[in-house]
Amino acid sequence: MRSDPSAEAKRKGVAPPVERQGHMKHQIVRRLTPADAADYRALMLEAYAIVPDAFTSSVAEREALPLQWWESRISEAADAPELVCGAFLADELAGVAGLRFEQRERTKHKSTLFGMFVRPRCRGEGVARALVAEILGLAERSPATEVVQLTVTESNVPAVRLYESCGFETFGTEPFAVKLGDRFITKLHMWYRIGTTT
Ligand SMILES: CC(C)(COP(=O)(O)OP(=O)(O)OC[C@H]1O[C@@H](n2cnc3c(N)ncnc32)[C@H](O)[C@@H]1OP(=O)(O)O)[C@@H](O)C(=O)NCCC(=O)NCCS
Repeated sequence: MRSDPSAEAKRKGVAPPVERQGHMKHQIVRRLTPADAADYRALMLEAYAIVPDAFTSSVAEREALPLQWWESRISEAADAPELVCGAFLADELAGVAGLRFEQRERTKHKSTLFGMFVRPRCRGEGVARALVAEILGLAERSPATEVVQLTVTESNVPAVRLYESCGFETFGTEPFAVKLGDRFITKLHMWYRIGTTT
């Protein structure tokens, strides 16, 4: 029997999953837990393989890591330094995005959105927009966070448009940010100031 995600969240004292109507399909967005580690790992290895220009990590680097590494990345601990949200379409993990909290006293007002990926067959349904909204909501509820930053490959038009449409602004351009074979990739640095929109 499947458990009720809202009741389960209440029992654990965490935010309940958010049900959203995407452009076409019904989707659930919720924070991943260590039980999702294998699905999360599979999705990210797919991401690194099919869009290498979008990520700093490579398949070889990440597939060598044990499952515990992925479990710790989605730990449910209250003081976890990072968390990952997943969007589910018909029970399938369709996309993910993470939020990493800075730990040092003078930089803990900042957090970083990382690891955004939506499976190709699930794109154009509002999945990424729902993930960004969820991540920004969590950042707003985190008492220390005042700024959310991210980096995005300059030529990645869908991702740049996504972030701009969610209120992020570019504050810098980093040439030679990533080296892929003998090619260099330029990254845009973007930020979102909590509390400045809606
Ligand atoms: C970028 C990505 C996450 C978008 O996912 P998605 O679920 O298809 O995006 P959504 O349907 O939520 O679209 C939200 C907005 O993003 C922008 N967008 C998405 N796809 C776009 C495209 N192909 N061209 C231009 N803009 C696009 C639009 O502003 C869109 O809003 P609109 O539908 O009102 O026009 C997805 O294409 C992806 O996973 N790409 C590969 C990985 C990647 O680039 N990750 C980002 C790393 S920084």
